[in-house]
Amino acid sequence: MEKFPLIDLEKLNGEERAVTMEKIRDACENWGFFELVNHGISHELMDTVERLTKGHYRGCMERKFKEMVASKGLEAVRSEIDDIDWESTFFLRHLPVSNLSEVPDLKEDYRKVMREFALEIEKLAEQLLDLLCENLGLQKGYLKKAFYGSRGPTFGTKVSNYPLCPNPELIKGLRAHTDAGGIILLFQDDKVGGLQLLKDGKWIDVPPLRHSIVINLGDQLEVITNGKYRSVEHRVIAQTDGNRMSIASFYNPGSDAVICPAPALLGNEAAEKGQVYPKFVFEDYMKLYAGLKFQAKEPRFEVMKAMESTIAAGPIATA
Ligand SMILES: [Fe+2]
Repeated sequence: MEKFPLIDLEKLNGEERAVTMEKIRDACENWGFFELVNHGISHELMDTVERLTKGHYRGCMERKFKEMVASKGLEAVRSEIDDIDWESTFFLRHLPVSNLSEVPDLKEDYRKVMREFALEIEKLAEQLLDLLCENLGLQKGYLKKAFYGSRGPTFGTKVSNYPLCPNPELIKGLRAHTDAGGIILLFQDDKVGGLQLLKDGKWIDVPPLRHSIVINLGDQLEVITNGKYRSVEHRVIAQTDGNRMSIASFYNPGSDAVICPAPALLGNEAAEKGQVYPKFVFEDYMKLYAGLKFQAKEPRFEVMKAMESTIAAGPIATA
């Protein structure tokens, strides 16, 4: 079986740079996922984030999760549930404006460490976007600029726990989906697995690895690269033997950023065959995604394409 791509980012600084860039290119083109080690984020900071996240779950989120399970009768389900996920979750927004001081029930030290962690993840996201630019033959800064809009990127963190589950065959930790946004950086539990990606029709485990960061590409990078890179379906299988921590940070375009394929990546052939991804405002894509997250992405791209021609037709279409 093919091995899940593991990239040692420190090797970019030495004689293995070309090989490492090639590994990143291969992962982006053929997996949509890779796992990073030696990414520059301190292990001490990661350990603190993990300790405080797990403490926050036990001290506050666990009770809410159990109440949700009881109120929906999820402990005793007999048939497959396809409209609820077995997850406990809350969101932090960092950019364009942080909501960290407004999120309820966070202790001050946890708030502080998550702010520090988000800054590190933001730096890593921007470094990765430039590595992608290099591999794609785009100018340095192209992707960051494409995401910028008028107020800069949207950047946030979804903090999740997937508690021990008595019926993982009947309810998913998180149902299969592709991510809508740009690039996703995940700090996942180093012991309890469960994340899987779909490759060539088969579900493949994303292996837990202490102090690693898992990267995956969202729908917007598929559009900008005109399909050279693809967002890949993934899901979380709830586990019977442990609680899984998952801290996923989303570096996405700004809400008014106009997303379209990079002209440099549009081959003549694609243009002639009409195989060109749509152009749209990111916010419009997100409105559509909100209701269709757990469905295939292709119809979403088709709807955006149809909206594009409506805009192009101008007053006649809107009359
Ligand atoms: Fe996801």
